[in-house]
Parts: sequence; C-alpha cells; structure tokens
Amino acid sequence: MSLSMSLCFFFPVFCVLSLLAMLLFPASLCPPPCFCSSDTLVVDCGERGLSSLPPMHLLPPGSRSLLLANNKFASLGASSFANLSSLEELNLSNNYLDNLPAGLFRDMSNLTRLTLHNNSLTVMDRELFQVGSLQSLDLSLNGLSTIPIGSMDELQHLRWLSLAGNRLHGLERAAFEPLVNLQHLELGQNPWECDCNLRDFKHWMEWLLYRGGKVDALECTLPKDLRGRDIRGVPVEMFNYCLQLEDENGGGGGGDGARSGQGGGGGGGEASSDCSRARYRPVSVRRAIGTVVIAGVVCGIVCIMMVAAAAYGCIYASLMAKYQREQPLMGDGEADGEDREDKQISSVA
Ligand SMILES: *[C@@H]1O[C@H](CO)[C@@H](O)[C@H](O)[C@H]1NC(C)=O
Ligand SMILES: *[C@@H]1O[C@H](CO)[C@@H](O)[C@H](O)[C@H]1NC(C)=O
Ligand SMILES: *[C@@H]1O[C@H](CO)[C@@H](O)[C@H](O)[C@H]1NC(C)=O
Ligand SMILES: *[C@@H]1O[C@H](CO)[C@@H](O)[C@H](O)[C@H]1NC(C)=O
Repeated sequence: MSLSMSLCFFFPVFCVLSLLAMLLFPASLCPPPCFCSSDTLVVDCGERGLSSLPPMHLLPPGSRSLLLANNKFASLGASSFANLSSLEELNLSNNYLDNLPAGLFRDMSNLTRLTLHNNSLTVMDRELFQVGSLQSLDLSLNGLSTIPIGSMDELQHLRWLSLAGNRLHGLERAAFEPLVNLQHLELGQNPWECDCNLRDFKHWMEWLLYRGGKVDALECTLPKDLRGRDIRGVPVEMFNYCLQLEDENGGGGGGDGARSGQGGGGGGGEASSDCSRARYRPVSVRRAIGTVVIAGVVCGIVCIMMVAAAAYGCIYASLMAKYQREQPLMGDGEADGEDREDKQISSVA
C-alpha cells in the first residue's frame, strides 16, 4: 500500500492507471491463497493445505460459492462466516472438522448447498443448521451417532440429505418430520439396528417413498436374523411385536424389567438382539401356559369322569351281583304265586 502510494505520489500516471484498474476489475479483491472468479463469483480455496480460514473480509462482495474442501481445518470460530449472506454454496469436504459452533451458519441467509462430507463431526448441535434456505446438506462420512430431535426443524426447503457413512444405529421420526420437501435421502453405511426403535422411522420412510421420494439402501446390522436385509423390504408385520412389548411395558411386568436390565448390562448390541429374541418369547410362554392350563382342566375332567364311571360301575356291579343272588328265590316265589293265581282263576272259571 505504502509502495503504491509513494508510486502514486511520484508518478501520477500510475496512480490514475491503478485507480482505473480498481474500477474496472473490482474482483481484484480476493483472500490471498484463493482464486476468485469474477464471472462465476466462485472463491476457490480448495486444496491449499490451509489450517485456518483465509481473511473472509477480502471476499469479493456478492460471492456465490466458497470452496474450502481438501484442507486441514479442524475447527472454525463462531463468526467465521458472519455477514456472508450472498453465499449460496459452501463446500467444506475432506477436512478435519470435529465440532462446529452453534451459530456458524446463522448469517448465511442465502445458503442453499452445504457440504461437510468426510469430516470428523460426532455431535450435531440443535442450533447448528438453522438455515431455512438450505436445499442440500451433505453430512456423509462423519462420526455422527444421533440426529437430535429439533436439529432439522428449520430445514423446510431441504430436498437432498446425506447421512451415509456415519455411526447411526437408529433415527427418530420426529427429527425428520419437519423435512416436508425432502426428495432424496442417503442412509447407507451405518450400523443400523432394525429393532423397535426404528419402527416409527420406517413408517416415516414409507411415507416419503409414497410421495415420490428416494431413499438408498438401509441395511440392518442387527439383529442377526435381519443382518444385511434392507429395511424397506422387511414387512411391517415384523415389528408387530413392538406393540406387544409396549403393552407389556405399560402393564409393568416384572419379567420385562428383568429383561431390559439384562439388555442394559450387555451393551447396545446385546440389548437389541435381546429385543429381537424377546419377540417370540412372550407369545410362546403365554401359549405354553395356556396349553398346560387347558390340558390340566381337560385331564381333570376326564379323570373325574373316569372315577365317577368306575365308581358307578362298581356300585352297579355289586348291586347286580346282589340282585342276581336274590333273584332266583324271588322269581320262584312269584312264579308259584302266579301259578296259584292262574289255578285259582281257572278253578273260579
Ligand atoms: C458484519 O457487518 C456488520 C455491519 O454490516 C459489522 O458491524 C460487523 O463488524 C461485520 N462482522 C464481520 C465479522 O465482518
Ligand atoms: C439472496 O438471493 C436472492 C435471490 O437469488 C438475491 O436477490 C439476494 O440479493 C441475495 N442476497 C444477498 C445478500 O446476496
Ligand atoms: C465439494 O468439493 C469436493 C472436493 O473438491 C468435490 O468432490 C465435491 O463434488 C464438492 N461438492 C459439491 C456439492 O459441490
Ligand atoms: C477424507 O479426508 C481425508 C483428509 O482430507 C483424506 O485423506 C481422505 O482420502 C478422504 N477420504 C475420502 C473417502 O474422500
């Protein structure tokens, strides 16, 4: 600056030329290691080995794209992108970002495409993506293990979302319900646990497919009998046991407490496989008890009937025996009497 000013002082022609240049090429404003294109309004700072942001106040006004991919950013200050409301695209792929401050994207009211592919994000702050203009959000290849409810409430214009290649076990339906314009969802390469916790999300996904959306394969890792299965192909009936579990939990069965206690002790994986095994258990146990009770009652009735029949048989047999013993005498007497009567009648006649 001082050099150009001294040049300006000694050579007024240079001064006029540089002023002209500044008026004709306003895009000469550009943060140092980046390349700024004045016609596409793209600021390319990709693959520069940067570990801290270039001076953002030198960004040409009206810039549309800021490419910061393939650098070494590990963290960003909360006001790093303050006042960058003209930006429509921000690409932060292939960096080492692990924790983004909640208000990072707050001022970016025109941002439509945000790419955080291949970073080290493990938590997603509820306030981070309060960017209503966002249409495409790429969070693939990070370390996210949950998507908090409320963290996507503002994303009503989002059409494309990738959560592929994270550490997600399950998803809450309530977190996704605000995404009323979503058309494309990528969920592959996550350790999905296809148990009761995923049932409501599966319903939401079916609704998304029903209204023409696209979802890539969501392959179950657990339980073992569903490993490798795409959850879209698992019939809803497979989750009917969840209602049963809910019923039982509602009824406050002591056995359920013991079972969930076991699951908790055995870690996440154990818990879900326990859950899948539990699907058959209550039914079969209940059926077994029912069978035993019915069999017992039937057996009891049959036994009582057999005892009654035996007793009746015995009594009848003894009565008959007694009768048989007594009958011949009585029969003879009667016959004699009849004969006598006959004789009397005939004698009368
Ligand atoms: C953003 O703009 C406001 C006013 O336009 C200014 O006061 C503030 O310093 C700017 N912030 C940054 C980080 O450039
Ligand atoms: C945001 O985008 C709209 C529509 O493209 C445009 O009119 C507006 O000027 C942009 N805002 C800024 C601050 O560049
Ligand atoms: C972001 O940058 C990476 C690396 O340059 C590139 O492969 C990718 O396509 C870009 N993403 C978007 C959405 O432009
Ligand atoms: C992810 O980023 C790291 C660091 O920039 C890079 O070495 C690696 O190749 C990238 N992986 C993929 C799959 O792009």
